[in-house]
Amino acid sequence: SAALPEGYTARSLRLSDYDAGFLDCLRVLTTVGEISQEQFAERYQWMSSQDTYYVLVIEDTSRGKIVGTGALLVERKFIHNLGLVGHIEDIAVAKDQQGKKLGLRLIQALDFIAEKVGCYKTILDCSEANEGFYVKCGFRRAGLEMAHYY
Ligand code: ACO
Repeated sequence: SAALPEGYTARSLRLSDYDAGFLDCLRVLTTVGEISQEQFAERYQWMSSQDTYYVLVIEDTSRGKIVGTGALLVERKFIHNLGLVGHIEDIAVAKDQQGKKLGLRLIQALDFIAEKVGCYKTILDCSEANEGFYVKCGFRRAGLEMAHYY
């Protein structure tokens, strides 16, 4: 089944999620920094002006808190007949909410969007420690990531 536990809802990111702990949720993933409401709004509006970014959140509705998030980027290519490739990025579930299948539901929802908009595949990078999670979500190891940090 594709249902969330009772009391949780999945939806697109909103501007008001700045005050609902969206950035704190991301902090379980990596460094976020101090982002002002204005900076958040500017980035949010820019992302919303494209049809490229799909940022989902899971809200614990009883507390009005964001407890999970994940993003899909739709890359437009020349190859494969102007093919579209989905990129799953920045998946985070609050520490005290892990193990409730919230991560799985986020991936399923992002995967659904990718297929619906016409992506021929969706790819992501993860650590070895998270491989098992993504295998449970239907992904398999393919290729090798390389990075050049500046
Ligand atoms: N290794 C192996 N299996 C795992 C792992 C893991 N690290 N994490 C979860 N699973 C399994 C669960 O046991 C469950 O299996 P089951 O169906 O047999 O019960 C299944 O995967 C689904 O697990 P969920 O409950 O949906 O996982 P959760 O909601 O805890 O989310 C996540 C997993 C997103 C990795 C979470 O632990 C998290 O936010 N971690 C910190 C941030 C992070 O590492 N994010 C991913 C970065 S990679 C990227 O963003 C592309």
